[in-house]
Amino acid sequence: MINPALPKGNKLSSIRKSGVNLKALSVLIILIIPTNIYADNKNMKIKLNPAQLKEENLAVLLEKRYSCRNFQNKILKIDDIATVIWATCGKKHDSLTQATRIIPSAGATYPLELYVVVGENCVDKLEAGVYHYLIENHSLEFITEGDKRKELARACLGQNFIYEAGVSLVITAKFHRTTNHYGLRGERYVYMEAGHASQNTYLAVTNLGLATCEVGAFDDDSVKRLLNLDRDCEPLSVMPIGYAERR
Ligand SMILES: Cc1cc2nc3c(=O)[nH]c(=O)nc-3n(C[C@H](O)[C@H](O)[C@H](O)COP(=O)(O)O)c2cc1C
Repeated sequence: MINPALPKGNKLSSIRKSGVNLKALSVLIILIIPTNIYADNKNMKIKLNPAQLKEENLAVLLEKRYSCRNFQNKILKIDDIATVIWATCGKKHDSLTQATRIIPSAGATYPLELYVVVGENCVDKLEAGVYHYLIENHSLEFITEGDKRKELARACLGQNFIYEAGVSLVITAKFHRTTNHYGLRGERYVYMEAGHASQNTYLAVTNLGLATCEVGAFDDDSVKRLLNLDRDCEPLSVMPIGYAERR
């Protein structure tokens, strides 16, 4: 169960907390289940910690957002990456509204799949490689080992700042999940949903003192090969993430 990343003191979180003592419950869960299991075995699923965004005024966040193309060579925290991943397309359960995902989805068809490209010595406690995000249990599934950032930058038509960023999220979609319901019109719904996801990536990295730049210019087949994507899965957006080099 992923905690909603509501800042402490948020009114909505107080309402939710009034019924059940969630703090006591989460302490209990932490005692029973190790929530921070990192990969030392390629077959393991890596359970990510719950997202933790900082309390910040939305107007300020929107003003601060920008596309960054210069990144520092500084190790990223796995918990920050977990938070950004969750904000991009994670799961929640809102008992007030019944919403179950962070982003809206036409007909709740959920076409998006998220991949994570991690560079060598770029994230604490996370090996270099390609991972697939398992939305249902907020975990990473190991796909391929090795630092693939150079290949990814090449697939993105030589946009070398992708290599400088320690991590890239790749937003992909299985269009048929949505077009099966809506026909061709479903295609535009998928693009809209990818836009929600990438904007959330921007806002989450900004909140955490990190930066990103949406990249839509890439060779589809090269990215598909690199990520080992299923045939029915199309890459839509690459989001390199890192600490911004001072401008
Ligand atoms: C769909 C989309 C695709 C983009 N593709 C690229 C890209 O391939 N390379 C790049 O450097 N920036 C890319 N950008 C970022 C834009 O260039 C950037 O948002 C624009 O210059 C405005 O700057 P700002 O985001 O800092 O406000 C893309 C943005 C969007 C929304």
